[in-house]
Amino acid sequence: MTFDDILPTLRGIFTEHGDHLAALGVILVNRDLFGRVRLIVKEQSKMNAEVRRALDAVTTAIEHRLGPYAYPAKEAVLYESDIGPFLELNRTFELLPNVRIVERLATDADWSWIEDERATAPPRIVYYSIKGGVGRSTALAVTAWSLAQRGERVMVVDLDLESPGLSSSLIPSDRRPRFGVTDWLVEDLVGNGDAVVEEMTSLSELSHDGEIQVVPAHGGDPGEYIAKLGRAWMPTVDEKGVRRPWSQRLNHLIGKLEQQRQPTVVLLDARAGIDEAASACLTDLGANAILSFAVDSDQTWSGYEILFRHWLRTGAYARIRERLQVVAALVPEVDTERYLMHMRERSWDLFTSTLYDQVSEQSVAMPSSSAWTFDAGDDTAPHFPWRVRWNRGFAALQSLYGRLSDIDEQLAYALFGPLIEGVAAVVIEHRQAT
Ligand SMILES: Nc1ncnc2c1ncn2[C@@H]1O[C@H](COP(=O)(O)OP(=O)(O)OP(=O)(O)O)[C@@H](O)[C@H]1O
Ligand SMILES: [Mg+2]
Repeated sequence: MTFDDILPTLRGIFTEHGDHLAALGVILVNRDLFGRVRLIVKEQSKMNAEVRRALDAVTTAIEHRLGPYAYPAKEAVLYESDIGPFLELNRTFELLPNVRIVERLATDADWSWIEDERATAPPRIVYYSIKGGVGRSTALAVTAWSLAQRGERVMVVDLDLESPGLSSSLIPSDRRPRFGVTDWLVEDLVGNGDAVVEEMTSLSELSHDGEIQVVPAHGGDPGEYIAKLGRAWMPTVDEKGVRRPWSQRLNHLIGKLEQQRQPTVVLLDARAGIDEAASACLTDLGANAILSFAVDSDQTWSGYEILFRHWLRTGAYARIRERLQVVAALVPEVDTERYLMHMRERSWDLFTSTLYDQVSEQSVAMPSSSAWTFDAGDDTAPHFPWRVRWNRGFAALQSLYGRLSDIDEQLAYALFGPLIEGVAAVVIEHRQAT
């Protein structure tokens, strides 16, 4: 019996005994910080003899079959006068139609509560990758530059707080603002966010037509950056005891900056990997598009598979899949077409086995079916990679600022064209919809 056996074992137990628990309505199963399992049951249900007997049977089965993940049957039911708040925690997912798991993690990032896409302007576009060092921040900087050339007011936010760097590609060091995202997160803990919020953006000189506002991870002088970073992730709790996780605080900050600077589009540089800060960017900020950078490697696809399977298991997939878009990063100069073809196939295999609806033979015969799925070769599909080419000049860069300040428009389009056009289309679509 190990952690991964918990859910299948519970599914078996509730399939056997669930009928007798029908009087409970939804059955809540709490999986605590250690992975141990108890039931959360309404106090009044104690009165119902049939429910009591069924609870005994279930808790005894749990004790016998869940090994180290069981509580002794006698302690395995938590009686609560009101179970509503557990459902509102947003940390529940379906195990069976009448059984929900209430999950407790040691982190605020559970990856499965997903904020609705923002319906208001400006659109927020997240640059994400499961593995680092694939040219995500560079691609973001180039997109910012190109959107600004088209007259957009772009706001760029560096949320890779643990390895900041994006801002140095857009503003020279002597023009950094005094404060960054980390400063605000720390000041906000003591209700002092307003002391820094006016001095968190710098205007990049890269663009001639529109503008690029840069919000760095830290200010020109990082100060006690490590001491600040060690606190930035904390939640706040107000006088009424209402807890605000840091991702909500971050959302609040970005909203404030949007109000202050009135950008027409916001580009967010998320941290790579299955990381707490990345989770906030993907799931809590109401992102309108999530660009998922990938190179064609086993490591990349198995990483994305872990994430997509989690979304499938917790039922979150339907809330996020329409915003995902794979970006083929660092596409090699030689054998390009074969590389892209292989990548497309791997990407399609992954999406088909996880996020796309399974289409049975029967529903294929019925074209009216509303299944959300795409052909492998459909270039409008989320799995169909937008290509970014590897380029010697970019690989050898010492400073992106130097490179971008005399960027050759033609080269930028040759390397980043599909990404630039794709993001521009997201911005226009969002504008038309709002
Ligand atoms: N199109 C490209 N062709 C060749 N090299 C590139 C390209 N884009 C970026 N690079 C180089 O790859 C390295 C990583 O780039 P970058 O910092 O943009 O990646 P990242 O995905 O943001 O990394 P991290 O995960 O560390 O934030 C840098 O040295 C950069 O100059
Ligand atoms: Mg980066």
